[in-house]
Amino acid sequence: GAGVLTDTFGRKHTYLRISLTERCNLRCSYCMPAEGIELSPREELLTTEEIMRLAALFVAAGVDKVRLTGGEPTLRRDLPALVARLAALPGLHAVGLTTNGLMLARQLPELRDAGLGLLNISLDTLRPERFERMTRRRGHERVMAAILRAVELGYNPVKVNVVVMRGANCDELGDFAALTAELPLNVRFIEYMPFDGNVWSDAKLVPFREMRAAVEARFPQGLERLQDPAGEVAKNFRVLGHRGSVSFVTSMTQAFCGDCNRLRLMADGNLKVCLFGANEVSLRDAMREGASNDDLRAIIGAAVQRKRAAHAGMFELARTKNRAMIRIGG
Ligand code: GTP
Ligand code: 5AD
Ligand code: SF4
Repeated sequence: GAGVLTDTFGRKHTYLRISLTERCNLRCSYCMPAEGIELSPREELLTTEEIMRLAALFVAAGVDKVRLTGGEPTLRRDLPALVARLAALPGLHAVGLTTNGLMLARQLPELRDAGLGLLNISLDTLRPERFERMTRRRGHERVMAAILRAVELGYNPVKVNVVVMRGANCDELGDFAALTAELPLNVRFIEYMPFDGNVWSDAKLVPFREMRAAVEARFPQGLERLQDPAGEVAKNFRVLGHRGSVSFVTSMTQAFCGDCNRLRLMADGNLKVCLFGANEVSLRDAMREGASNDDLRAIIGAAVQRKRAAHAGMFELARTKNRAMIRIGG
């Protein structure tokens, strides 16, 4: 039946993204302003116990998949322990992580043993000098090593997130797609989205059609369309003959809000019912004021009921107050 996680459009929210920290060891321009962000004071961030209380409550209400994000989630020291506790929640079928991969290779065996099932690694360029320009830090080799380590450890697919920006990396789609020839990667080309402080412009957005044409131009054998698993944000393809796959996340030119199944818990304890806009409610404050689980369910249900049918469109979003992406986690 319809529970607290079903909205007025009949969408069931079975996927919770939890942002574990606002800190990051990279400085990507599409994710944070050049001057950085003001970090929330530590006492305003959820404790591990608060995260676990909320996660258990969401899972009991129907969430079957949790993805841990940031900032950069591997900066959190208790990450393996947290993954293990989440993985043990009855009814939770999958725990995923989205990471920049910089610190990942060494931690990965422990994370896998803790129950980490799904792994998405961000990498926007295959060229080390460009990596430095786009992230304002070094580390390209370490991210590549983490991707290969993840393959060795049996993650299949390893999803590789590429935010495509005109004038930055839009000439590398063919090279990225070529990686899927031998490796079990799912390379995902993502349309550049506007967030506070990321100086988005439609001139820098490379639309899905253009990205797809760029990949097709490189591989004369063509692409086959794959079936998209329910609840995925990507349109999936395979270059004929390749082991892995390529996908396109078309958030701007072909939004997928009608199938949205996501809710987001921010590191500061705010619940966001949509990636965009400022519809947020503080579950932290409620908990710290003594809310019971029933109270929390009522607050969550009311927020879900306020969720819009779809986001407002890219030009409107570029003018709408939101957070910096680094404080949302994607
Ligand atoms: P899985 O489906 O679990 O593999 O994860 P994901 O693709 O949702 O997560 P990931 O963190 O890898 O994000 C990939 C891209 O999709 C990022 O650019 C996210 O911002 C974007 N994204 C994730 N969820 C949503 C969503 O609900 N709406 C929109 N518009 N974009 C999303
Ligand atoms: N547009 C699209 N995707 C973005 N990401 C971060 N900022 C943006 C943006 N402005 C992606 C990252 C990461 C995921 C969580 O979100 O590349 O893989
Ligand atoms: Fe869901 Fe909002 Fe993303 Fe649309 S933009 S898919 S409603 S989170």
